[in-house]
Amino acid sequence: MINFEYYTPTRVIFGKDTEKETGRLIREQGCRKVLLHYGGQSAKKSGLLGRIEASLKEAGIEYISLGGVVPNPRLSLVYEGIRMCKEAGVDFILAVGGGSVIDSAKGIGYGVANEGDVWDIYSRKREAKACLPIGAVLTIAAAGSEMSWSSVITNEDGWIKRGYSNDLSRCRFAIMNPELTYTLPMYQTQCGAVDILMHTMERYFNPETDFEITDRIAEGLMVSVIHNARILMEEPEDYNARASLMWASSLSHNNLTGCGLSSDWASHQLEHELSGMFDVAHGAGLAAVWGSWARYVYMENPKRFAQFAVNVMGIPQDFNHPEKTALEGIRAVEGFFRDIGMPTSVHEMGIDLTDEQIETLAYKCSFMETRYIGGFKKLEKADMIRIYQMAR
Ligand code: NZQ
Ligand code: ZN
Repeated sequence: MINFEYYTPTRVIFGKDTEKETGRLIREQGCRKVLLHYGGQSAKKSGLLGRIEASLKEAGIEYISLGGVVPNPRLSLVYEGIRMCKEAGVDFILAVGGGSVIDSAKGIGYGVANEGDVWDIYSRKREAKACLPIGAVLTIAAAGSEMSWSSVITNEDGWIKRGYSNDLSRCRFAIMNPELTYTLPMYQTQCGAVDILMHTMERYFNPETDFEITDRIAEGLMVSVIHNARILMEEPEDYNARASLMWASSLSHNNLTGCGLSSDWASHQLEHELSGMFDVAHGAGLAAVWGSWARYVYMENPKRFAQFAVNVMGIPQDFNHPEKTALEGIRAVEGFFRDIGMPTSVHEMGIDLTDEQIETLAYKCSFMETRYIGGFKKLEKADMIRIYQMAR
């Protein structure tokens, strides 16, 4: 194992009706003027936005509103938010939605608190020095942005999707009412389940495999996500299943399942190029590439894949042939994806990748041939091309 620092400063308020606490929580931060940031239609339609506005008014908090965040949130709306916040003297951003809204709020927070073009931060030309305080009311269990240090923004100029990670952007609080996720379409629910699963899998498949406590936490979380995703296929309003998934969303990406380990993140990097270029849902994109990534890399350490197969997917152990057990585990994950309506290839998302598109995806993913990705196995541009071809 490797040394680690574990930092999760986000205050979690979990359970039914907790969104009514929003105004009080912001007042406790000593903030007075809020940007209420949200997505397309869902928060308005469900009445959630109205309840939050009432809570802000009750707490004597002024606010301005900016809706319209789309999945794979756009830089242009981040610019709009920065301009509005500066004009109105906003001192707190409240994100009501999922990963896209929270990430957009983080982008705005960086843009207001730092000089210059915020895209320079995402394109790694410079580091952020500050960020406006942010709170979240979560409406979808998925990205884990409510407790993560990351945000991912898409620049429409070139359709480049880039993530930036910094503790400065961590949410001050995250309100999580599992009932708010009842209105999600099943497809979005299951995209979320895949993303949650993958945030732990990306940490699980790494070069250090000798820290048992983290392995056991990770395996337990993955078993639970698979179990509850299946329940929700039958019972979308099962409160306990919704609650398990929502809490897993946060725990899977606040690094609890990565303590003492390095990590991989290749599937995420490969996926970010897909959703940047084709605007697919992040979780679906992950499901489409994971099996190909796994088959490409598993011989690097078949015993690790076999451990995953046995402890997470319930495959019987074959001590003499770990590579066989490993492959059965990969097949079982793909079977699970199919059972919950997720794709296992890019074609199943309605995209038939041409050779030229694959070249472009790999070129972007390799940062114009200046980086490799992956911790379990280092992948260069040629490897990326091979995996995209396998995932076609
Ligand atoms: O815009 P509305 O109408 O709200 O619709 C949204 C959106 O279409 C809908 N939705 C959300 N809550 C709902 C609901 N519909 C009905 N009822 C509700 N309660 O769901 C759709 C997807 O929302 P989105 O916020 O895009 O989902 P998610 O949380 O999966 O976020 C995805 C984004 O997060 C990034 C992804 O790349 C992607 O851009 N990620 C962010 C991470 C982070 N910040 O740490 C890590 C992740 O790996 C990921 O990369
Ligand atoms: Zn993700």
